[in-house]
Amino acid sequence: MATSCGRALSKVGCTLLGSPAVRLLCVVGSQGSRRLIGTSSTHFKPVPAMRVRRSLGLALALGGGFGLYQAVKIKALQAQEEDTTQTSDGTLKLTLYQYKTCPFCSKVRAFLDFYGLPYEIVEVNPVMRQEIKWSSYRKVPILMVNNSLQLNDSSVIISAIRTHLINKNKNMADIIRCYPEMKSVNDRGKEVTEYTNKYWLMLDEVDTTTVYPEKEIQKEEMKWRRWADDWLVHLISPNVYRTTGEALASFDYIVHEGKFGTVEGFFAKYVGAAAMFFISKMLKARHNLQDDVRQDLYKAVNDWVTAIGKKRKFMGGDNPNLADLAVYGVLRVMEGLQAYDDMMSNTKIKHWYRRMEKATTSHEGQC
Ligand SMILES: *[C@@H]1O[C@H](CO)[C@@H](O)[C@H](O)[C@H]1NC(C)=O
Ligand SMILES: *[C@@H]1O[C@H](CO)[C@@H](O)[C@H](O)[C@H]1NC(C)=O
Repeated sequence: MATSCGRALSKVGCTLLGSPAVRLLCVVGSQGSRRLIGTSSTHFKPVPAMRVRRSLGLALALGGGFGLYQAVKIKALQAQEEDTTQTSDGTLKLTLYQYKTCPFCSKVRAFLDFYGLPYEIVEVNPVMRQEIKWSSYRKVPILMVNNSLQLNDSSVIISAIRTHLINKNKNMADIIRCYPEMKSVNDRGKEVTEYTNKYWLMLDEVDTTTVYPEKEIQKEEMKWRRWADDWLVHLISPNVYRTTGEALASFDYIVHEGKFGTVEGFFAKYVGAAAMFFISKMLKARHNLQDDVRQDLYKAVNDWVTAIGKKRKFMGGDNPNLADLAVYGVLRVMEGLQAYDDMMSNTKIKHWYRRMEKATTSHEGQC
């Protein structure tokens, strides 16, 4: 299962579409891209056709990241520290490499914000990815701890940091060894990387009973974290690119937020919107969504609210747990778009959503 934008993107671009033109696009946007971009970016002045392809790649990359995130909200905690290697008070120095518009990155930010952990953001250009050139892991989010320890995969990042917050005596390097990488080939013959234990917190018995007084609570949190990664995320794209009008609105927002030249911006908007409109139809088929994709979104969101029930403010009780933070992180990438407004007025999510918004923006989990 894809837990980062890069993988989701190459899936979108490469396995669904077979034409040479599209393969080129997916090359631009995925792992095999380094050579192509390397040559075109050094001494080679791009001809217009190349620029078009690049813009297309960019558009796809952004669209493949599914989301559209309101940048405004994340300013609070970023870049509070100067560029020192470590903080003086013994806390972790965190740097998040991300695409602003990606739900997996939004999930990590929701988590860090809720716990009031300061972090710097490095926005990665989805085409060139210069910013993560130093890493052989080519996807975002990546979280650097103290400029030395590299955490990959959104759910691993969240589980590892949460483990450290619960037991500060535990060394991050030791914690992260508990989430080993596992490579395998999926049913479509593609190599996939998974992380063992990614929904587990590495706690001893005493901490476990403090954090999870009942086994069921722990199980429930893991189940819904997985659900957010494996199901909820797949509903975003088909919903924000549902109609041509919505696809344009989504890309208008992306272009407005991102750094684009006039030509690139134009192509990103129109070509990207058109491409994502069609890709989202294919995603709809792949994930067996209903004809009206909104119905799946409404159902998912209402299932979530039902799972919380009437007695709890959050799934975590009086405070959000990691499942609350994951679901909120994914859903909020739709803010400002039609799909979001429709979700708010046609489901029962609103009250929980407002509580989550407040909990994260006011860093209620800070201790
Ligand atoms: C990061 O730096 C802080 C402050 O020096 C230190 O207390 C902490 O142990 C370091 N963490 C890691 C994972 O090296
Ligand atoms: C993350 O990926 C990089 C590059 O592949 C690797 O060197 C690093 O060990 C990975 N981090 C963890 C915690 O697995």
